[in-house]
Amino acid sequence: VRVGIIGGGQLGRMLGQAAGPLDIRCTFVEPAASPAAAPTGEILAGAYDDPAVLAELARRSDAVTYEFENVPVEAARWLAERIPVHPTPDALHVAQDRLHEKRFFRDNGVECAAFAPVASLAELRAAIEMLGLPAILKTRRMGYDGKGQLYLADPEQAEAAWSGLRGVPSILERVVPFDRELSVLVVRGRDGAVATWPVIENRHAGGILRWSIAPAPERPHGPPVAALQERADALGRRLVEALGYVGVLAVELFQVGDRLLANELAPRVHNSGHWSIEGSFTSQFENHLRAVLGLPLGRTDAPIPCASVNLLGRVPALPDLLAIDGARVHLYGKEPRPGRKLGHVTVLGRDLDEVAARLDAVRALTELQTG
Ligand SMILES: Nc1ncnc2c1ncn2[C@@H]1O[C@H](COP(=O)(O)OP(=O)(O)OP(=O)(O)O)[C@@H](O)[C@H]1O
Ligand SMILES: [Mg+2]
Repeated sequence: VRVGIIGGGQLGRMLGQAAGPLDIRCTFVEPAASPAAAPTGEILAGAYDDPAVLAELARRSDAVTYEFENVPVEAARWLAERIPVHPTPDALHVAQDRLHEKRFFRDNGVECAAFAPVASLAELRAAIEMLGLPAILKTRRMGYDGKGQLYLADPEQAEAAWSGLRGVPSILERVVPFDRELSVLVVRGRDGAVATWPVIENRHAGGILRWSIAPAPERPHGPPVAALQERADALGRRLVEALGYVGVLAVELFQVGDRLLANELAPRVHNSGHWSIEGSFTSQFENHLRAVLGLPLGRTDAPIPCASVNLLGRVPALPDLLAIDGARVHLYGKEPRPGRKLGHVTVLGRDLDEVAARLDAVRALTELQTG
């Protein structure tokens, strides 16, 4: 079986690693030199929308998927006329644009932050008036790791913010006073079967995911996690069914009391699900491949709690990481650069206390290294 993957970063690498044992052959399209996915499959070096490259990808693949959401929709549509492409180009269209995404949530009865489209300074002023502050101005397209976002606490900041984002089409979102951030990963097969992984708690700093823990721990005065799981499952199922989605969909969530507000969608495998490589019966990567190729989905439950920590900017000494009991180290083979995701460490434990202690041990090393 052969799968074509648009994008050759670390998510591609981990898809390729999951493909290995099943003897699924991966071909990646990636313009950048020495892509992280290179050791796990063949690389077609070229632009994501180069017709010759896409034609070659179609020839070499039984189905095509992608590992990042900014794949040109036209390229995905061109491929979809020739071979199965999952998730569908329509899902890309929704997830590439924060305004489409928010409207999609609203139209499907999924709660999210109050928002308004902003296409001019006058509209920004009107949106501030309507939504109130604090709020976040976000570019509609191409944002990641908190890039293309500005926090607004005072109406006086409107003009600077608007020129700060260079006047590109944006949305204003009211700040959600969340208790914590969660995510739910859903997978839907070609036959319509749906499964979700245990709901994950995520901690961000500076707009970048630092660590994740699964299942999300109980909070002393919060609703039972089982109730949150039930909501997350229902919400995830509703979204994949509305999109006719095939593959893994990640939904980033804000928990406010017993409510879950959707923040954003990732139409692909997701950083908050990396723990599933060791922590679940079937990882997000394997189930994504199974779904895209029309194979039966695997179990998504997690027999023991676990967590994963991102290695950002610099990698601590490997012996120090490996000396942590229960740690599983994943390095992506990327050149170090400030803030860049270079790897992650998953820690497993018999119970959440053990996981928390091991998580702290990894964080002590990473914080030492990244300052
Ligand atoms: N409306 C909001 N209220 C409160 N916090 C927010 C809001 N929007 C974003 N944030 C904070 O900023 C982080 C990044 O925002 P968001 O997920 O929209 O950005 P991104 O740059 O697309 O990130 P990603 O790397 O996940 O694609 C969120 O995880 C959250 O911590
Ligand atoms: Mg996000």
